[in-house]
Amino acid sequence: MKKALIGLGALALMTATPAFAVDPFFPTFGNPGIDVLHYHIELDADPVSGNVSGKTFLTVKAEERLSKFSLDLHALQVSKVRINGHTASFARVGDKIEITPRPPIRKGAPFLVRVDYAGVPDPLPDPTAPGADLFLGWFKYQNATYVVSEPVGASSFFPANDEPDDRATFTFGITVPTGYRALANGTPLGSFSLGAKTRFNWAMLQPMTTWLATVHVNRFNVNTSSAADGTPVRVYYPDGLPASHVAGYALAAEVLGWMEGLVGNYPYASYGSAIVQDSPRLYYALETQAMSTFPQRANPPREGLVAHEMAHQWFGNSVSIAKWEDLWFAEGTATYFEILWDHRDDPAAFQQAMQENYDFVVQEQLGPAVVEAPEEMFTDRTYLRGAAALYALELTVGTPKFFEILRTLARERRGRSITSETFIRTAERVSGDGSVRPLLMAWLYDQAVPALPGAAAGVARKAQVARPGVTRPRHVVD
Ligand code: ARG
Ligand code: ZN
Repeated sequence: MKKALIGLGALALMTATPAFAVDPFFPTFGNPGIDVLHYHIELDADPVSGNVSGKTFLTVKAEERLSKFSLDLHALQVSKVRINGHTASFARVGDKIEITPRPPIRKGAPFLVRVDYAGVPDPLPDPTAPGADLFLGWFKYQNATYVVSEPVGASSFFPANDEPDDRATFTFGITVPTGYRALANGTPLGSFSLGAKTRFNWAMLQPMTTWLATVHVNRFNVNTSSAADGTPVRVYYPDGLPASHVAGYALAAEVLGWMEGLVGNYPYASYGSAIVQDSPRLYYALETQAMSTFPQRANPPREGLVAHEMAHQWFGNSVSIAKWEDLWFAEGTATYFEILWDHRDDPAAFQQAMQENYDFVVQEQLGPAVVEAPEEMFTDRTYLRGAAALYALELTVGTPKFFEILRTLARERRGRSITSETFIRTAERVSGDGSVRPLLMAWLYDQAVPALPGAAAGVARKAQVARPGVTRPRHVVD
């Protein structure tokens, strides 16, 4: 579902937010002319051989008259494509399935595409780390599989319109050998036995971007608890994970309630954490919607990491980014809450941690939070200058207004995407403070690091910048 620009503000909004589909960072992913409303993904996955056979059903709306359209699918072999139940002709061109509906589909019409496919999923090169031998998508490890796709790995396991601003609801039916458990985003709808196999059904009925879609297959154990509001919180972990690690992930229940108090209701029906023992290949956690993915490490998870992935459920997932250049909104916010969680009972310590973060941004002369290329996405510019931008906003409008801005975004934009411009406009409107726009413009777009407003500014700060031994806040790799 792409954002609908309807209503009185539409014209202004359209000039501020030009219509786009394919993200300029990844022009070979995503497909013009279509808006996917729902994906139903059925996979039969064998974690031992690595083989997958699948059927994905896409409910699609034609954004224009379609005599041809394409979907992204990497490596897997397509045996058949159907449109509204009728066989359609298709061709594989690189990582596209080019489909020719006959007769053409008229503009605005909804239609159903079914793609049957099979093979061993092949992870895609990670274009955010060129030359680094890193990959995205569906991975097999030992006798298990998992998926981490941010930003463009989704097409390794289902035919997708793999662009960040085409959000859809998802349902999954994942069939695995009996004894294994299959996880996917959202809420478990139960499982049933099919002889030597077991099918697990999952539903994500709030809109989700393709890059957040995940499936895990392993012999998982489950730890179940619930947040204060009753939201089920589960930890799925392999045999042998120490109890202290399980407890570390189960902390998500407490973090969830804490976040609700700060920014409003948790956007989903349940939360899960899937623990993956694939070191060193999987070296980061990912906020896969309502089912975060964590790399198993020697030590229990850092609390800040658990808080970071939880914060993403509101910021980055429920309120997503329309364009990858605005990734700071997801990562800066998650980093802000990561730091806040660690110092939640000690405002002075929080201030100091934010000051140290700022000092580091200055010391490294980190460029603008809005980035211009894929290689800049997972850098300190988005995480640390992004968090510093939010802290500067908090110092400017005051803490109550700052959280009102975040709550307003979470509520008004729930299940939708935003751009930096949406953020600025919301911050301006909620705070009623005319200085907010220039402040955020400088933090998000200027090369120079702006001064931190308020008490921290001025001569006193210069001394701090020069102070050696500033602790570098950790984030992606930790
Ligand atoms: N969004 C993840 C997090 O902040 C990090 C993902 C890193 N992805 C990558 N392709 N390097 O928790
Ligand atoms: Zn993050």
